[in-house]
Amino acid sequence: MEAIVSLAKRRGFVFPSSEIYGGINGFFDYGPLGVELKKNIRDCWWNDMVRRRDDVVGIETSIIMHPKVWEASGHVAGFTDPLVDCKVSKQRYRADQLFFAPIVVDGNVVGYVSALESEKTAEELQSAAETFKRKKAIQGKLEPVQPRDMTEAKPEEIELIPSPATGEPGSLTPPRAFNMMFETNVGAMRDASSVAYLRPETAQGMFVDFKNVVDTGRVKLPFGIAQIGKSFRNEITPRNYIFRSREFEQMEMEYFISEDADWAKEHRAWIDWCKGWLLSIGVPETHLSEYNHPKEKLAFYSKGTTDIMFKYPFGVQELWGIAARGNYDLTQHATASGKPMEFFDEAAKKKYVPHVIEPAVGVDRIFLAVLCSAYAEEDVKDDKGNVEKRTVLRLSPRIAPIKVAVLPLVKNKPELVQRAQGLYQRLKRKYPVFYDESAAIGRRYRRQDEIGTPWCVTVDFDTIEKDGTVTLRDRDTMQQKRINEAELFALLDEKVF
Ligand code: GAP
Repeated sequence: MEAIVSLAKRRGFVFPSSEIYGGINGFFDYGPLGVELKKNIRDCWWNDMVRRRDDVVGIETSIIMHPKVWEASGHVAGFTDPLVDCKVSKQRYRADQLFFAPIVVDGNVVGYVSALESEKTAEELQSAAETFKRKKAIQGKLEPVQPRDMTEAKPEEIELIPSPATGEPGSLTPPRAFNMMFETNVGAMRDASSVAYLRPETAQGMFVDFKNVVDTGRVKLPFGIAQIGKSFRNEITPRNYIFRSREFEQMEMEYFISEDADWAKEHRAWIDWCKGWLLSIGVPETHLSEYNHPKEKLAFYSKGTTDIMFKYPFGVQELWGIAARGNYDLTQHATASGKPMEFFDEAAKKKYVPHVIEPAVGVDRIFLAVLCSAYAEEDVKDDKGNVEKRTVLRLSPRIAPIKVAVLPLVKNKPELVQRAQGLYQRLKRKYPVFYDESAAIGRRYRRQDEIGTPWCVTVDFDTIEKDGTVTLRDRDTMQQKRINEAELFALLDEKVF
């Protein structure tokens, strides 16, 4: 992660927000290359999910909606994470990420240890228990620790569990529900009647506008409504860089199906679609897995939820959630607003509230997944046979910020520079292209490798003196070949879609 974060900062992909003021936890800025990569991810999703399908339409709804939306959706009452406070250090923890274990010696509990969730939580707790026993000179056999998280702590245990901040017991509070929605006020009055929320998900926009889309869009079941936009969650512990932040972007789609449809089949089809799409933008299949939420942990209305998981450097984590939500959301809004949400099914000749499959993903999580999959450091030989390190981002041409770099071999030969400039200008009309004439050609290649540019074209003496062809250098194989301009455009047309 350190190497990836450092590259992202150094080459202008991601910056901490408000850095000159010390930053603000859980917020990030995207730099010149980052904004292009992010836009390409969004555009690929929009093209594949909306424009290239006949059964999905797009919308864009407001970030601040009527507060009743969030009452009906259940977010006001239930969009919470369990919070534990340390009264001494004033630190706050998510109870399900704060682990503890009793220290058991010869069958007796002699104390407690705690640790924050990580890849090594169990080892940390075991080692803390051993240290505790040694320091207190307790004789007997230490049993292996049995970690639990704070949501599972019995009331009488809370007092005895040490705070990770102070190492001492007695300062942690019992877990309480903390609502993650950001509140604001709309209008000049700041009182209870003007309270509104920054949306914690884009999905509700699709449910609330369901009738409008049906009345204007000439849609018939099954059909989807998709949206890309910012969401906000006051995460207790934003962490792992842009993986869990407080302001992020979602790409969500509500796919409405008949009440008689085989929901499991539709659900499976969408899981496969999402996986296929991730492969199409260069996420390797080897890094993906599926997690089915256990039945007993699902909300009462949910038929099933599967997460597509990605192997991040900090562990296997949720990338994309695909939920089968029955007709809960539309029914809730119909009840709360008094506006019917039924759909007349021409084929079945009946009216009902459709069911929904919801694939929901974060753009920033995909951004991080593609950076992690693309990043590589390797030993390569330079022209003189010396081994040197090269850092390369093997980004798919679909999402790479710059598709091709145009490099005149030398900068002091006006005819050559003019040719290179001409090619650069023609390419630029269609693709993001970079022109670079400074430094030795090898250095220029390395600079492009590091930012994930799939191809470099070099305009050299043969270009101006012979057949007009240029040298095409492939980022991944580092192989070079000569091609003409028509072939270059054909290659880009095929790979960038
Ligand atoms: N409408 C359903 C919904 O919002 P979710 O699992 O809470 O479901 C969907 O969020 C996706 O949004 C997640 O799979 C993840 O990719 C992304 N996401 C959620 N919280 C996030 C956060 N704090 N930071 C970045 N991405 C987040």
